[in-house]
Amino acid sequence: MTASTTETDRVALAFSGGLDTTVCVPLLEEEYGYDEVIGVTVDVGQPDVEFAEARETADALDVQHHVVDAREEFAALCLRSVQANATYQGYPLGTALARPIIAAAIRDVAAAEDCVALAHGCTGKGNDQLRFEAVWRDTGFGVVAPVRERGLTREWENEFAAERGLPVEGGVEGRYSVDANLWSRSIEGSELEDPGTVPADDIYEWTANPGCEPELIELRFVEGRPVALDGEQHDPVTLVEILNERAGAHGVGRTDMMEDRMLGLKVRENYEHPGATVLLTAHEALEQLVLTHEERAFKSQVDQQWAHKAYQGLVDAPFVDALEAFLATTQERVTGTVTVKLEGGGCRPVARESAYAVYSERAASFDEADVGSDITQADATGVAKYHGFQSRLANRAIERGDAGGDPG
Ligand code: ARG
Repeated sequence: MTASTTETDRVALAFSGGLDTTVCVPLLEEEYGYDEVIGVTVDVGQPDVEFAEARETADALDVQHHVVDAREEFAALCLRSVQANATYQGYPLGTALARPIIAAAIRDVAAAEDCVALAHGCTGKGNDQLRFEAVWRDTGFGVVAPVRERGLTREWENEFAAERGLPVEGGVEGRYSVDANLWSRSIEGSELEDPGTVPADDIYEWTANPGCEPELIELRFVEGRPVALDGEQHDPVTLVEILNERAGAHGVGRTDMMEDRMLGLKVRENYEHPGATVLLTAHEALEQLVLTHEERAFKSQVDQQWAHKAYQGLVDAPFVDALEAFLATTQERVTGTVTVKLEGGGCRPVARESAYAVYSERAASFDEADVGSDITQADATGVAKYHGFQSRLANRAIERGDAGGDPG
């Protein structure tokens, strides 16, 4: 039992209609003694079928069900992550970016519905518990995590659901723990927990085995934000949806990796993220064209820090604001067009152009004698003489020292 409850105590539960959150409903009522559970599903672009399932499950459990549309807010955060070229150990952070938005939306429903507590169905092993609670702590609501607090296993949950006749999904979605939103789809559990097992093809839903003819996609960016695809403007949600569809058909954006979770656990993760891969690839290609060497080098450190905070679910940290101040300055020139080629499961940049290109064809060309601005090739002779000068001095000193020579 957690804090004592009264007759009218209501709890808002992060509700997906999946196994964990379904099992939480009777536990919150019977074991925790809450008077009413309000299920909240936040729309961050998960497949439509998930809402129908959540609705049906909520009806079967006889709980009030709210759906909050946070797609625009989520898409905006995904595009912020593109400016930071954000991936964590190779994963484009879909689950991580969504959690703070979902948590805030549930907190707002809880406030409007006079709830006393907030609940999630996360285990005590994963990252999501930390991401939810970073938003929920200090809000005045109680925080309840039945799966973690009771140490529930999926096996126990499946048996409990069967005994109680609770509606839970079968098939691929029931077999694995799947988390899908606009930015990525993650597949965990069952035999995938053995890193030595090659995943069966049916774990993938967004990406096909590559087989179709290669395809080019042209993306236009304005100040680091993608605004048009093949010359047509789209809002962020639609843009990512189109790219998921088109790049997914080429098998682009599959990741099978070992991931270091926040608590220190190392886990095997499978992801699909075709749209994210295309946007991250194209954006970075444009930065290569318009940013200077030192901007790129320092930005890669800033990017990594941004991605790390995002992985922790802490995009609201003041540190992230400071990182974004640097990112914003760099993005002022990230305006231009990139063409990527989708081919055989891969996505690579094949053309790029920008009015801000630092690249100069005249300077770099094999066909031009000089490099412009009154600088000729012969001017490099002095630079070439000096290049490595200090290393040569040092190597001579080492030889001298090894030979027992005069230290002076
Ligand atoms: N490991 C990833 C993360 O922490 C994704 C977890 C997704 N959850 C799931 N039940 N499939 O961001």
